Amino acid sequence: MEQTKFLLDESQIPRRWYNVAADMPNAPRPVLHPGTGEPVGPDDLAPLFPMELIGQEVSEEAEVAIPEEVLDIYRLWRPTPLYRAYRLEQAAGTRSRIFYKYEGVSPPGSHKPNTAVAQAFYNKREGRTRLSTETGAGQWGSALAFACKLIGLECKVYMVRISYDQKPFRRSMIETWGAEIVASPSTDTQCGRAILDEFPDTPGSLGIAISEAVEDAAGRDDTSYSLGSVLNHVLLHQTIIGQEALAQMELAGAFPDVVIGCVGGGSNFAGLAFPFIREKIAGREIDVLACEPAACPTLTRGLYAYDFGDTSKLTPLVPMHTLGHDFVPAPIHAGGLRYHGVAPLISQLVNDELIRAEAYLQNDIFASAVRFASTEGIIPAPESAHAIHGALEVARAADEAGEERTILFNLSGHGHFDMAAYDNYFSGKLEDVALDEAEIDRALRAIDGLPTPA
Ligand SMILES: Cc1ncc(COP(=O)(O)O)c(C=O)c1O
Repeated sequence: MEQTKFLLDESQIPRRWYNVAADMPNAPRPVLHPGTGEPVGPDDLAPLFPMELIGQEVSEEAEVAIPEEVLDIYRLWRPTPLYRAYRLEQAAGTRSRIFYKYEGVSPPGSHKPNTAVAQAFYNKREGRTRLSTETGAGQWGSALAFACKLIGLECKVYMVRISYDQKPFRRSMIETWGAEIVASPSTDTQCGRAILDEFPDTPGSLGIAISEAVEDAAGRDDTSYSLGSVLNHVLLHQTIIGQEALAQMELAGAFPDVVIGCVGGGSNFAGLAFPFIREKIAGREIDVLACEPAACPTLTRGLYAYDFGDTSKLTPLVPMHTLGHDFVPAPIHAGGLRYHGVAPLISQLVNDELIRAEAYLQNDIFASAVRFASTEGIIPAPESAHAIHGALEVARAADEAGEERTILFNLSGHGHFDMAAYDNYFSGKLEDVALDEAEIDRALRAIDGLPTPA
């Protein structure tokens, strides 16, 4: 075996984020105001977000400078390591080379603080003192709680009920970093109370939790809303991952034929993939693969349409692949991938065939997670296990075709707070849920009558 870890020095942390919008062959359609049907402007977004983030949301500059204060906090865990997965390759008996970028070394355990720290910084600089947010698996809520604590802001987290019950220690972690946390739907907001009246036993969903966090921020001058995925500025902040990976692949003397990530709202996938898509647009041949759960198959089976980002229709209309804003995914264990929509930048790149997508069943992804833990040692988050499974599937297909590939995937987080899910897998209790057509048709009726992207 040759070198296993490819490490950059702290002085090599990238100084700029990369904005893929500057290079895309077709710009994504604008986000619309649901009342007027017109593109939203900065004034519409100002009650929810600081101006700097609104500017980044519509920026056409290819690169955006990372503030020194943000870099200072990034230095606590960045640059993150890139590994060559020799042991996994050997166990799989593949001729392909598999590399992974590991984001689980951050204090909260995932890629999420890359944007949490940036968002907390800009909010503080523009005078906000409190942030509200939703969280699914708890990774985003803990990342924002961590960032708010270090930057000096209050934080309120609405955590999807099913994850709140399944992951008590994510809750404790969020409280350790000083944030307030409630199960969503909650009685703290009007929309939470309305949903509880109608569906008292709902497991909750990211769409519902977003409604609550948006209502919280819209009702208070001191509070901004903070989103952990989907929006352009969130994906922008994550591109530090792919830029580091480009330099590390160079250290390894390799370049990927295939770049892979799991997709919930799309931020970790975009973070790794966009700097490589920049190379692809410039002429390099790269297969870019997005991996999602069969229980929430937004990119593979959703419709490209205008839809609300949340269940209670408080957000603007977003052009994206969607399963409908009232879709409540089955309570599978990859809580962070249970979102009805996906980032508009990713949707557009799928439409333009620069990205392709596949959907996997949860027993298959856990089998790949255990295989990974048994060889590379790291116990992956169930979300990240979708990317591992994708990498193994690509390697297997290459072997069957008598080919060799260089594969790079994003290991977006560790699974130390997901051991109950592993227990369920070991005891055969995980159900494989693939949506039937009738359920997708029902869910998509929620967007009947909304504008369609031209
Ligand atoms: C470890 C991990 N990976 C991936 C995701 C999915 O989010 P995104 O698609 O925005 O990266 C989450 C979401 O919570 C997560 O916790």
